[in-house]
Amino acid sequence: MNDLGIFLQRLERRTDPTALLEHIVGGPADDWQRKFLTSSSPFAMCLASRRIGKSQTTGVLAAQTVSMPNRTVLILSPTLAQSTLLFKKCLQAWHELGLSIQKTRLTQQVMELANGSAIVCVPAGQDGESARGWGVKDGGLLIYEEGAFIPDAVFDATLPIREEGGRILLITTPGRVGGFAHRLWVDNDEVEKITARSTDLPRMADKVAFDRKYQPPLTFAIEHELRWSGGGTPFFAPETIEKAFTDMPELKLRDIYAAA
Ligand SMILES: Nc1ncnc2c1ncn2[C@@H]1O[C@H](COP(=O)(O)OP(=O)(O)OP(=O)(O)O)[C@@H](O)[C@H]1O
Ligand SMILES: [Mg+2]
Repeated sequence: MNDLGIFLQRLERRTDPTALLEHIVGGPADDWQRKFLTSSSPFAMCLASRRIGKSQTTGVLAAQTVSMPNRTVLILSPTLAQSTLLFKKCLQAWHELGLSIQKTRLTQQVMELANGSAIVCVPAGQDGESARGWGVKDGGLLIYEEGAFIPDAVFDATLPIREEGGRILLITTPGRVGGFAHRLWVDNDEVEKITARSTDLPRMADKVAFDRKYQPPLTFAIEHELRWSGGGTPFFAPETIEKAFTDMPELKLRDIYAAA
C-alpha cells in the first residue's frame, strides 16, 4: 500500500470506531457491534453472550471517544481484575489509533490526555465509592461493563455521575432477575436495547457447539442464549419445569369415570 493508502486507512480508523474494531480483531464487526459503536442514544443497553467481544468493543469506544477534547469515559466493572483487563483493551485501542496526543497521567486504571480527555476504569465494588468525584458530560460516556453483576446500590450512587450531554451505556451478560439491569431490560422502553447472541453468529459456531456439549444446560442458557436467572441454583432445572407442561387438554376426574 502506498503512503496515501496508509494515510486514508489511519484516517478511517480515527473517525470510524467500527473500522478501528475491525482492524484490531482482524475481521468484520458484528451487527450488534456496529449498533453499539454508533449508537447516539442517551442510554443504551447491550445484552450479550460470553466471549462475544464486550470488552474489546467497549475499549474501542472508549479510545475513540477520548480522541476528542475534554471527554471523560468512566467505565465501571464488577471487580478489580475485570477493570484492569478492560483498561488494557482501552490502551490497546488507543495505541492502534496512533494519535500524537500525549498522555499526562497513566496508572493501572487511568489514562489522562493532554487534550483534557480521560479514560478511567474502576471496580464498582459494593457501593461505587471508587467512582466518586468524576463527572461525565458533553459527549462523555459512563459505561457499566458486566452491569448485571454490579450491585443496585452502585447504580444508585453512580448514575448521577452523568451530567448534561453525557451518555450511559450498559453492556452485560444476563444476571439476576430483579436486579437493576434486568429491570431496565424488561421494563424500560426508553433505553435503546441491543441483543448480541453468540448462537446467532457463524464466527462463534465452534465455541457454541463446544460449550453446548460441556456446560450445564442452565449455564449455557444464561451465557449463550441470554436467559436471565434467579439468584442461586434453582431447585428444579428449567428443562424439568418445561417438561412438566403439556399442550394436551386438562383431564378431569369425571372424564375418567365417564370413560370407564
Ligand atoms: N467481530 C469480531 N470478529 C472476530 N473476533 C472478535 C470480534 N469481536 C471480538 N472478537 C474477539 O473475541 C475475543 C473475546 O473478546 P472480549 O474479551 O472482548 O469478549 P467478552 O465478551 O468481553 O468476554 P468475557 O465474556 O470473557 O468478558 C477477543 O479475542 C476479541 O478480539
Ligand atoms: Mg469481558
